[in-house]
Amino acid sequence: MYDPARLLQMFVAVAFLLTATTAISGDAARGKRVFSKCAGCHQIGEGAKNKVGPHLNGVFDRKAGSVDGFPYSKSMRRAASGGLVWHADSLNAYIENPRVLISGTRMSFRGLKSAQDRDDVLAYLRDFSDKPSDIPEADPTAQQTDHAVDPAILAIQGDPEYGQYLSGECTTCHQVSGGDQGIPSITLWPEDIFVTAMQAYKNKTRAHPVMQLIAGRLSDEEIAALAAYFRDLED
Ligand code: HEC
Ligand code: HEC
Repeated sequence: MYDPARLLQMFVAVAFLLTATTAISGDAARGKRVFSKCAGCHQIGEGAKNKVGPHLNGVFDRKAGSVDGFPYSKSMRRAASGGLVWHADSLNAYIENPRVLISGTRMSFRGLKSAQDRDDVLAYLRDFSDKPSDIPEADPTAQQTDHAVDPAILAIQGDPEYGQYLSGECTTCHQVSGGDQGIPSITLWPEDIFVTAMQAYKNKTRAHPVMQLIAGRLSDEEIAALAAYFRDLED
C-alpha cells in the first residue's frame, strides 16, 4: 500500500517546496538596516517627505514616477508612461542596478549586489505599502533573478562599422539626430548603459514588446556593435 519510494518522493517534493518558500521571503527587520543605504535620499514611514528621492510609502503597486510634487527625471517619466508599475520584480531590478530599467534615471546609486539585501529591503518597504496583505502572493517580496549584465558581455568590443550597417533597423524609429519625439534618443550613450538597456529588453526585464522583439533577435556582438556605433554618432 505505502510504496516507500513514492513516499520518499513526496517527502522530497514537500521539503523542496518548503525550502523554496523560505528562500524567497525577505527579513524586514534586517531590511530596515539595509535601508540605511537608501535613507540618505529616501524617507519612509509616518510623515515621510520627498528628499533627494521621493518618499517610499506605498511603493508596492504604485505607478512609477507618480509621487506628487517630486521632480522625476525625464527617463523615469517616460518609463511611467510606458506603463512601469512597482512590483517585486521591477523594484528588484531597479535597486540591483537602477540603469537596467531606466537608463537616464537620476537615482545615482550603484545598486545592491546581494540578493539577500534586496529581498530584505523589499520586505521592509512592503511593510509600508497600504495593505501589504492585499498584495497578491504572485508578487513575492523576493526574487532570485540576477539582473546584472554578465561582465563578459559588457567587455565585448563592438565594431562601429558593423553597427552602422545594423543601425538601419533602428533609425526608422530612433532619430539619428538624437532628437526625442516620444521615442528616446539612443545616440551618445556610454556603451555599458546602452548594452545594459538592450540586454534588459532581451531578457524581458524591460517590458516594451517591440524592443523585446528587436533586442531578442540581436546577438551580444551585434548589440556591442550598435553600442559602439551610436556612442559616437553626431548629427
Ligand atoms: C543618492 C540618492 C539615492 C539613493 C542612495 C537611493 N535612491 Fe532611490 N531614488 C533617488 C532619486 C533621485 C529617485 C528618482 C529617480 C528619477 O526620477 O529618475 C529615486 C527613485 C527611487 C524609486 C522609484 C520611486 C518612484 O516614485 O517611482 C524607488 C523605488 C527607489 N528609489 C528605491 C530606493 C531604494 C530601495 C534605495 C536603497 C536600496 C534607494 N532608492 C537609494 C535617489 C536615491
Ligand atoms: C518600431 C520602433 C522602434 C525600432 C525599430 C527600434 N526601437 Fe528602440 N525603442 C523604441 C521605443 C518606443 C522605446 C522606448 C521603450 C520603453 O519605454 O522601454 C525604445 C527604447 C530603446 C532603448 C532604451 C532607451 C532608454 O532611454 O532607455 C534602446 C537602447 C533602444 N531602443 C535601441 C534600439 C536599437 C539598437 C534598435 C535597432 C536594432 C531599436 N532600438 C529599434 C522603438 C523602436
